[in-house]
Amino acid sequence: MKVLVTGGCGFLGSHVCDFFLEKGWEVQSYDSMTKYELKRTGYGTDATREYNWNYLKNKGVEMVKGDIRNLEHLLDRSTNCDYIVHTAAQPAMTISWEDPELDFSTNVLGTFNVLEAARKRKIPVVNTSSIHVYGNSINDSLKESETSYTREPIEIPETQATMIGKISPLHASKMSAEHYVQTYRDMYDVKAASFRFTGIYGERQFGGEDHGWVANFAIRSVFGLPLRIFGTGKQARDILYARDGAESYFNFFQNQIPGTYNIGGATGNKISLLECIYMIGEILGKKQEILFETERPGDMRYFVCDINLARKFGFNPKTKPKEGVTKLIKWIDENKSIFEIK
Ligand SMILES: NC(=O)c1ccc[n+]([C@@H]2O[C@H](COP(=O)([O-])OP(=O)(O)OC[C@H]3O[C@@H](n4cnc5c(N)ncnc54)[C@H](O)[C@@H]3O)[C@@H](O)[C@H]2O)c1
Repeated sequence: MKVLVTGGCGFLGSHVCDFFLEKGWEVQSYDSMTKYELKRTGYGTDATREYNWNYLKNKGVEMVKGDIRNLEHLLDRSTNCDYIVHTAAQPAMTISWEDPELDFSTNVLGTFNVLEAARKRKIPVVNTSSIHVYGNSINDSLKESETSYTREPIEIPETQATMIGKISPLHASKMSAEHYVQTYRDMYDVKAASFRFTGIYGERQFGGEDHGWVANFAIRSVFGLPLRIFGTGKQARDILYARDGAESYFNFFQNQIPGTYNIGGATGNKISLLECIYMIGEILGKKQEILFETERPGDMRYFVCDINLARKFGFNPKTKPKEGVTKLIKWIDENKSIFEIK
């Protein structure tokens, strides 16, 4: 069996490649190596940029440099594939404000092309969406404890209204991509799903303030740098360890129930920014300096996934935040030389 992983050199994509390799599949990573998320991390060095490419190449993944906006090339490279896992994206809300055209062409046109490839090859496909599509009206129904925003009921299902609240180009592009996935299911019978991922974290995540907050806090804490929080720090997510996220695509292939699914850690993995910073400090045995700034427009203060639908095709997050974050910190510690913090 062979899987084509778009965005294979990205954070989540690299974990998907790893997971399918371990299951004995042939794996092709299809990535433009654009790496928008490194734009403002302060450690976008060549070593960081190439890290996942070299990591996967050494493991035997077929490496293809290609742009999902090029349909012809994508069609050519999907020949002989049995499954497409689509993780390539412009994933950051901040970058979507600054460059809405880039966000649209990557997330909408790119996803459309991926669906075309799946239709022509008659293979299943999973589109990686985001809890961003719900919008931030959830902010209006929250209470707060000393360290976290809270809500009753804790978990939010897929029936929650989408695109409510203040909407950014990223919300629009991710939602449009989901509409196309639904269209390809309904019109062309493609076995297609959209996975609405919560915040993901793990090894090989070069997180910055734009995207990947757990890794951003972990990296800066390891280097003893101050941590910047936009808002109160009580923002909460049901964070998901990347390997558990990667497994969800495997579960779907084994049990292809087309649909739209929340993919997150659910109640047991709920953690706020402040709680995560304290946990990292505890693991490292140090207290970090925290700088507070005003909340960013469009920020979602809270999301915890109801994952009962995804459980039906076999999804089951296993890794608890402390265990996963300890592994992330170990990886950062072992790879200090590739972070050139400015
Ligand atoms: N990381 C998270 O916490 C999180 C949360 C929710 C959803 N997601 C979604 O998961 C997916 C992967 O996110 P990530 O954190 O791994 O991001 P990432 O930026 O690490 O990976 C994306 C990869 O896509 C590649 N790419 C970008 N444009 C491309 C193009 N035109 N053609 C081919 N490749 C291209 C990039 O080079 C990069 O390697 C995205 O769809 C994102 O929206 C991520």
